[in-house]
Amino acid sequence: MPFAVRRLVVEDAAQASEIERDAFPEMFPPTSFARELGNRVARYLVAWRREEVESDDAPNPYAEPDPGGDGAGVGVRRFIRNARGLLPWRTTAWEPGQQFLAGFLGIWQVIDEAHIISVGVRSGYRGLGVGELLLISAIEQAREHNADRLTLEVRVSNYVAQNLYTKYGFSKRGLRKAYYADNREDAYIMTTGSIRAHSYAEEFRQLVAEHEQRWGRACRDW
Ligand SMILES: CC(C)(COP(=O)(O)OP(=O)(O)OC[C@H]1O[C@@H](n2cnc3c(N)ncnc32)[C@H](O)[C@@H]1OP(=O)(O)O)[C@@H](O)C(=O)NCCC(=O)NCCS
Repeated sequence: MPFAVRRLVVEDAAQASEIERDAFPEMFPPTSFARELGNRVARYLVAWRREEVESDDAPNPYAEPDPGGDGAGVGVRRFIRNARGLLPWRTTAWEPGQQFLAGFLGIWQVIDEAHIISVGVRSGYRGLGVGELLLISAIEQAREHNADRLTLEVRVSNYVAQNLYTKYGFSKRGLRKAYYADNREDAYIMTTGSIRAHSYAEEFRQLVAEHEQRWGRACRDW
């Protein structure tokens, strides 16, 4: 897989903010990633695109990777978006020589409950298994830190994210009314059962194997 996962470091803060603006344009105030690095209960993971460091010809990482098999219309739309990424007046957080981040995920763990506070993938990099890779990594990390379950809030309208969470055993356990400040939308509370249970471990192993088979093996290093 052309993506790998590692912990967020302070040099990633500008790109993480850029991804947050892309994934959560309504979010205010924005997350201070530099401050979060000092938060003892917080852990942030990033998915970075490995091709940049492995090739010498300076690519435009803002250009979307080609998932293959697109129709002509999709190809034209991607060409236009990619050309936008090359405009000289466009300011970007990524600088040549840095790893290019495609997405991030944040967890706050309190005792045995790991709370996923945010997961976002750049819009040009969605549908490529990156969000799922970040969630897999979060669950692996939660297990390493002896969490028993994971929980999160998700907009009732965000069926894409709900699909991802449901795939990994989260189910709707409650509703927070008017949880989101921008439009007073409700949030579902979604929670896993015990991730230490044998049955969960077995299902998780199977899902990780399927992800690897579909997208290739991804290095997870933290
Ligand atoms: C939600 C998000 C992180 C998913 O990341 P992604 O990299 O696009 O997702 P993946 O390619 O890894 O897909 C994993 C699963 O997500 C779900 N999913 C992804 N795209 C979907 C789509 N267009 N429609 C329905 N389900 C979708 C599916 O369950 C998919 O598994 P499948 O391919 O076996 O069906 C991404 O869409 C995003 O950043 N959205 C904006 C921010 C956001 O809503 N974050 C969640 C806040 S709670």
